[in-house]
Amino acid sequence: MENQKHLFNLPENIHYLNGAYMSPNLNSVEQAGLSGVKRKTNPTSINETDFFKPAEEVKSLFGELINASASQIAIIPSASYGLINAIRNVPIRKGQYAITVNEEFPSDYLTLRKFCQDNDAELRVIIPPNSILGRTQEWTEKILESITEDSAVVVMSSIHWMEGLKFDLKAIGEKCKATDTYFIIDGTQSVGALPIDVKKFNIDALICASYKWLLGPYSKGLAYYSEKFNEGKPIEYSWMTRKDSHDFSKLTEYPEDYGIGAMRYNVGEFSDFIGLPMIKAALEQILEWRPENIQNYCFNLLRPLRDFLEDKKIEKDRDNMVSAHLYGLFLPEKVNLKMLMEDFKRKNIHLSARGKSIRISPHVYNDSNDVNSLIEVLDRHF
Ligand SMILES: Cc1ncc(COP(=O)(O)O)c(C=O)c1O
Repeated sequence: MENQKHLFNLPENIHYLNGAYMSPNLNSVEQAGLSGVKRKTNPTSINETDFFKPAEEVKSLFGELINASASQIAIIPSASYGLINAIRNVPIRKGQYAITVNEEFPSDYLTLRKFCQDNDAELRVIIPPNSILGRTQEWTEKILESITEDSAVVVMSSIHWMEGLKFDLKAIGEKCKATDTYFIIDGTQSVGALPIDVKKFNIDALICASYKWLLGPYSKGLAYYSEKFNEGKPIEYSWMTRKDSHDFSKLTEYPEDYGIGAMRYNVGEFSDFIGLPMIKAALEQILEWRPENIQNYCFNLLRPLRDFLEDKKIEKDRDNMVSAHLYGLFLPEKVNLKMLMEDFKRKNIHLSARGKSIRISPHVYNDSNDVNSLIEVLDRHF
């Protein structure tokens, strides 16, 4: 895959290595949003099918990306919204516990903590090993050990949101299935840039905010809920999620039944005439590129960085264990993080510091010039 910078409108003078913070708009996504804004200037341009059809199209595209049927997808406003709809429908027996990983993203941790408080259940946080080499595999093994017949649910990100570690989701999903433990994944930091398959990984719910690797707008997201959730309780009681809601003549029949699959978990007013066309344009582009190609592009792009780290004897996990679109780099003790970040700023290099590591998150709009500039600054501090 070749560099795709021409499809974005990033300023020439910046090195944007911060897709994990927020993706820049594709030009096609920006256009879709602007057309969406203009539509309501003349409301006659919005007809009754527009309340449902575009949402179905977006669900199909997302379903294709994660290997799920469109009917099991819901449109959500944020990851936290999608998560609460999943967790409140997880059955839990007395004495069972819930599992997450150390330093999980707050929306995941806080949702799970509340679930545990409400159900008087223990929350087990799986701590990583001290080692850096072999960290992902050892951490995965610890997660696997913690899953038993007495665990009710595992909630975790598809990759670690600060370190970029690629947990073995397939192995974790298999253990969850074997022990009847619900497996809920926050895919915000990888879906769109790293392949995922909800069937292969036995994922029960996959929740994604759209403004990072799905290249969509803020305040919008997509979630997959497996058939296990089809009779669950949603947090809202919107007219739009009911059976036959597209038939405007029947609205005041107030049907008790919901639409099929995960329809009940859609947010009210899900037919957002600005946001949905933006997500649609983004998904179309991602499906054309394919996540495996995006990942390979980023992997090749970061090769000089990995070589540099090896030369400098900086500890890192095995290359295939860390995602290439979100690469967490543990800083050597001697590095002054504040001074390093100031230096990045002076050179117009945009990335994030999270905990004791920096997070380098490239995409197909980055080129070797961005990585070389990054290495130049690191070299001054290492
Ligand atoms: C792993 C992960 N999940 C979710 C989010 C966003 O959560 P929310 O949509 O609840 O604001 C982020 C944002 O950084 C994230 O890194």
